[in-house]
Amino acid sequence: LLNQKVDSVLALMRINEKIGQLVQYSGKWNMTGPSSSNSDQYKLEKLKKGEVGSMLNITSVTSIRETQRIVIEHSRLKIPLIFAYDVIHGYKTIFPIPLGESASWDLKIIEQSAAIAAKESAASGLNWTFAPMIDVSRDARWGRVMEGVGEDTFLNSEIGVARIKGFQGNNLSDNSTIAACAKHFAGYGFGEAGRDYNTVNIGENELHNVILPPFKAAANAGVATFMNAFNDIDGIPATGDKVLQRDLLKGEWNFNGFIVSDWGSIAEMEVHGYAKDEKHAAEIALNAGSDMDMQSFAYETYLEILLNEKKVSIAQIDDAVKRVLRIKFELGLFDDPYKYCNEERERTEVYSEENLAIARDVAKKSIVLLKNENKILPLSKSIGSIAVIGPLADDKNSPLGNWRAKGEYNSAVSLLEGVKASVEKNTKVYYEKGIDLTIPTVKPGENQFSQPLKFNTTDRSDIKKAVEAAKKTEVVLLAIGEDAYQSGEGRSQTDIGFKGLQIELLEAIKAVNPNIVIVLMNGRPMDLSRPTEMVPSILECWHLGSQSGYAIADVIFGDYNPSGKLPVSFPHNVGQEPLYYNQKNTGRPYNARSVTFSAYRDSPKTALYPFGFGLSYTTFKYSDITSSQTKIKVNGNLTVSVKVTNTGDCAGEEVVQLYIRDLVGSLIRPVRELKGFQKVMLKAGESKNVMFTIDSEILQFYTANKKWEVEPGKFNVWIGGSSEAELKTSFNVEE
Ligand code: IFM
Repeated sequence: LLNQKVDSVLALMRINEKIGQLVQYSGKWNMTGPSSSNSDQYKLEKLKKGEVGSMLNITSVTSIRETQRIVIEHSRLKIPLIFAYDVIHGYKTIFPIPLGESASWDLKIIEQSAAIAAKESAASGLNWTFAPMIDVSRDARWGRVMEGVGEDTFLNSEIGVARIKGFQGNNLSDNSTIAACAKHFAGYGFGEAGRDYNTVNIGENELHNVILPPFKAAANAGVATFMNAFNDIDGIPATGDKVLQRDLLKGEWNFNGFIVSDWGSIAEMEVHGYAKDEKHAAEIALNAGSDMDMQSFAYETYLEILLNEKKVSIAQIDDAVKRVLRIKFELGLFDDPYKYCNEERERTEVYSEENLAIARDVAKKSIVLLKNENKILPLSKSIGSIAVIGPLADDKNSPLGNWRAKGEYNSAVSLLEGVKASVEKNTKVYYEKGIDLTIPTVKPGENQFSQPLKFNTTDRSDIKKAVEAAKKTEVVLLAIGEDAYQSGEGRSQTDIGFKGLQIELLEAIKAVNPNIVIVLMNGRPMDLSRPTEMVPSILECWHLGSQSGYAIADVIFGDYNPSGKLPVSFPHNVGQEPLYYNQKNTGRPYNARSVTFSAYRDSPKTALYPFGFGLSYTTFKYSDITSSQTKIKVNGNLTVSVKVTNTGDCAGEEVVQLYIRDLVGSLIRPVRELKGFQKVMLKAGESKNVMFTIDSEILQFYTANKKWEVEPGKFNVWIGGSSEAELKTSFNVEE
């Protein structure tokens, strides 16, 4: 029926209207509609003619209704627009940045947070988000590591699917859900040297076994759209890659949604040196299967000419148009183009008490306890005195992170506010900023990417006051890390240490008070080598969103026992990047008697804090690993179980992780790979058996035969609380 409806609309369309459905414009229009600038007037005329399929960056019910009205009242066929926005970690109620939220390893709350982001944005008139980003990313220098799930393929797949389910719900036509977009297809997270938009040089093994599986999982989960990418892979821009888009995604994977280009990425194929000019770029993109042109203006200018020259076919154009129409039908926009436009909902459902309470819950579950010597944490709420120090200590902006959608400037709960709300009346709380981290560059209405960040390296005038506060208190909470805009798009760095005078501030405080808890706020793995040497406790708090300060205080004062685990490896130094746990062994992994093995002479080669690592206020013991069989057939399965015991004195949650290694492969397999995880709650002293099923889904890989297959041979299995788990068993797979 849906196909019939789509076909019946297509049958009415003229070529300009068909091409129009493949055009997406950005507009920062207010409720009165477009401004009088030339480009806005141009877009307005195109809208009236029905030559635009989608708008991005228009927000609020009134503005969206007004823009939709232009199309519905003026265009011949009245085909509704689909309105898109980067709703990445919340709409107005801001959740932790995706990398931080991924540290919860809690699929339920991740789905819930996406569902609330969908509900708020849908209540504000939107229908489509450009999320989730499921680019496996192994390089901390890449600024966009904050927007994804980190370095692991399996975790990216699981969390990507949870986010898609949250955004899309069970039914796209429900007006509290929005269409999701799996991005960036593909390889964007592998830019050489962590530099954004940079070239990607990977082989088929890496592409199929590491990068593509989360996208396959997204397609299987019914994601409505895909976005292609700015980068090239081995000389072919992803936007013009036919093998990836038309053959694999739309062909083999049977994806029937549509693919949007990244911003201007069609035209950028000319800049890459892959297309002769923009016309050629449009030809390559459409032939490759890229359906919608975001802001290149290449499709609208050249597709009809290319059609007349027979360089693209009407069948390809029709296929692209049908894909776009189908999603519009599924969203219910043909039934009612204004169905998402309800001011009352916008007023009541956005930034509600209920949504904020869930944001606090997600935030506290995203925190990772990295170090806690002498059990300095949790602190007692009746502690006599506490100093809250640092450039991020009373910052209400940074916790919102980058890509904060409509999160209001300075609206987050700061750490200081959270601490004050938690401690008992008699506790003395001192606050000192100590230093400025950055000169703030982003104010409401300003372009977040417009200026480079400037770090304070000269103004030491307030360090003394911070030292005085530290001197007179029992414990110092030192909030340092990164400004919100140090990570995100276009925010790559060659240095992942502490900018400005932060280490100087730490040293000055340490000289008078060693009881320091570093409350780290950041968007990427940082070089924590100095802080790790200097302080007893480090709490990784990412950019936690609207309720940041309350969530951190929940953990600091023991109302919540931290359970987060790192979704990325934290290195000893930037020179180790890209760093990831699931490396290949190499022919020379280690040789105690020689220098000629794969290592560094001036640094360890392993992580300072490994993937999957995170402490709790209690401790967990793993024992009794057992496998139901020692041999299985290639299509068989077995179960592996382990006993996990809470050996400490309080209840806590543990993320039990399953890793495997395929010892010999037709292509070399990683030293270990995450293949399962379960988050379990254990009371003090309690034990639970945790069981995993291992089947061909888990054991297969993209082999030298260019097929997904299970290869017979020996497999090792580890279960434990991080990627360095030691408890091991093994089994054989037979023909
Ligand atoms: O969604 C983003 C994409 O990830 C990067 N370029 C711009 C798009 C739209 O804002």
